[in-house]
Amino acid sequence: MNRRELVRNLVGLAAGSPLLPAEVPDELMGPVNVHEFEEVAKRKMHKLAYDFIAGGVEDEYTLRANREAYGKFALRPRVMTDVSNVSLAVDLLGMKLASPILIAPTGGKNLVIESADEKVAAAALASKTLICSATGVQKILEKGEPLLWWSNTIGAATKAQARSYARRIEDGGGRAITLTVDNQYQSNRDRNNRNRFDYGYMQTGVPKDGEPKPAPKSPALPAMWQPHTPQMTWEQISWLKEGAKIPVIVKGIIHPEDAALAVKHGADAIVVSNHGGRQLDGVMGTLEALPDCVDAVGGKVPVLMDGGLRRGTDILKAMALGAKAVLVGRAPLWGLGAFGQPGVERVLWMLNAELKLAMALAGMAKPSDITRTLVTRKLG
Ligand SMILES: Cc1cc2nc3c(=O)[nH]c(=O)nc-3n(C[C@H](O)[C@H](O)[C@H](O)COP(=O)(O)O)c2cc1C
Repeated sequence: MNRRELVRNLVGLAAGSPLLPAEVPDELMGPVNVHEFEEVAKRKMHKLAYDFIAGGVEDEYTLRANREAYGKFALRPRVMTDVSNVSLAVDLLGMKLASPILIAPTGGKNLVIESADEKVAAAALASKTLICSATGVQKILEKGEPLLWWSNTIGAATKAQARSYARRIEDGGGRAITLTVDNQYQSNRDRNNRNRFDYGYMQTGVPKDGEPKPAPKSPALPAMWQPHTPQMTWEQISWLKEGAKIPVIVKGIIHPEDAALAVKHGADAIVVSNHGGRQLDGVMGTLEALPDCVDAVGGKVPVLMDGGLRRGTDILKAMALGAKAVLVGRAPLWGLGAFGQPGVERVLWMLNAELKLAMALAGMAKPSDITRTLVTRKLG
């Protein structure tokens, strides 16, 4: 039996699972987890592009803290529950989702591959995954495809602009608006500064070796002072809500008082996030920030989280600490860098399959079975 037949047989054994693709191309069978997708992507990508995506800010304490947080909590599985059928389905803000794993907004995908936004959106459609993105979804939505899409914005300068933005998104088929609130200024990313990266490459991709370099548009410089949304305050939420009826989700909350304030100002959900360790260095890991934010919100709105999620068990821990759903940022980009759109689909499939198995082995047949008692903080 060759490798391909072996895979088909294994896939056949688990037939009936909607998460298992009918056929997996041979090359996609190489990486056995998201970390290994990153290794393949790193080999294929330009160093500047890889560093832009993989990197964090300054000394990368927060980048590491996001991953290390998963090691600080241990699972306490339950047994003797019927887990012959495990469902990942969740209801979120009136939407029925096949899975709690969503695609996070990531600008600069063209650094990975051409037409990257469209490819990731196509992968989201193929794998029935909700995508949160500022771009790349329009053509799919115009065709009437059932893509679940949340827009992403860093906020508008005026009330009129915010209202018209919200109206445009609702008219264009957006099911929610995510408002990123931790992007007040361009952050200080040593890797980009060292690489003489130009933020203009986020649209064009890195010029190929030997090609003439275009005039710099927005060169990365140490500790530069480049404002994005320094003036934005909580009223932005009501500005957006005046323009449309779709939910407004505030992304980038770490402090429990901000979690409560977001709800007070009308947020329909929050995302506990530190931007994947890419904004302020020294911020705590998101898994550790999550429980206090969940408590501060007190069940009034759903709490989502992102940061460092690379395994089904990471996601299970986040859900145990109160995340109704999670967003993955770099993981799908590693699939994209490794194998293009099929790589994204494979990474999403893997994360879903790992989560499903982790839930089964923890004795949880559906997301609502997952409670905080499933995890405990490790000593030391
Ligand atoms: C390359 C890249 C670009 C990103 N661009 C955005 C963005 O434009 N808006 C935003 O809210 N978050 C952005 N993020 C943060 C992600 O939405 C998410 O919070 C983070 O990636 C989660 O951490 P993870 O990459 O470890 O999964 C970006 C992240 C990466 C890696």
